[in-house]
Amino acid sequence: MTLYGVGLGPGEADLVTVRGKEVLENADVVYSPGRLSRTVALNHVDESKIGDLDFPMTKDEEKLRAAWKEAAAEIAPNARDGDVAFVTLGDPNVYSTFGHLRRTIDAFHPEVELEIVPGVSAVTAFATAMGVEIEAGAGLSLREAASGASPTGPDRMILFKVTDAPATHEGLVEAGYDVTYGRRLFMEQGETIVTDDPEDIDERDYYTLAYAEKEDLEVEQATAAFADDESGSEDATTDGEPVTDGGTLVDLERAEGREGGDCGGHR
Ligand SMILES: C[S@@+](CC[C@H](N)C(=O)[O-])C[C@H]1O[C@@H](n2cnc3c(N)ncnc32)[C@H](O)[C@@H]1O
Repeated sequence: MTLYGVGLGPGEADLVTVRGKEVLENADVVYSPGRLSRTVALNHVDESKIGDLDFPMTKDEEKLRAAWKEAAAEIAPNARDGDVAFVTLGDPNVYSTFGHLRRTIDAFHPEVELEIVPGVSAVTAFATAMGVEIEAGAGLSLREAASGASPTGPDRMILFKVTDAPATHEGLVEAGYDVTYGRRLFMEQGETIVTDDPEDIDERDYYTLAYAEKEDLEVEQATAAFADDESGSEDATTDGEPVTDGGTLVDLERAEGREGGDCGGHR
């Protein structure tokens, strides 16, 4: 039988995938590593199915290894006899506790079958929640900014674990970034905040991220011309006719064919 790592998405119950929901409903036990993931899981399964696991708040590697061995020893027998799930917020393979469990199960209980159900990660959900478009061809880096850190370098960054927004902000602005913060995005628990003022979120909340973009970044989108177009729809058409993009003629149909698929686009 199988141990499923199930991504719950950012926190709202209806952002769990259909597959994730099915797995949770069919699992004999649903293990949760924390309070928030437990609350989300409870939208889909009865409390009697929840198996709480205790993890110490420590960076001591010995203690962490001991806690994961204990968790794996609790989970493995149930995963041999039936199907069980281990839930995480977001995606199980993105900055997640599931990696520790997978490695521990692989090392000490190799007979347990493992399967992962991806979830909507904060890495992608932030874009919709904060009205950001990561256009095709753009680079995007993921970094951590715990305790006021201000990593710099890439043109665009998502920063996780923003626990001291004013300090992080200072370093980023000094390095030439525009920064927007998102707290508890798509989460039912707590207040959702999107702001570019770090003082609005100076109280520490682990579920806070930042999107930082170099302030001198120039992005030329073919369709951005519509916003500047004073002549209305006459010159700006998408029905196979050329569209003027700052003097450059772009044939949208041909561009689409070249890029192909859902992730293609035109710059
Ligand atoms: C350990 S990472 C977990 C990421 C998760 N596995 C995912 O795929 O979204 C935790 C960090 O992700 C960010 N985060 C996760 N969910 C969030 C949400 N709903 N709103 C804002 N930030 C979130 C925060 O920066 C938080 O410190």
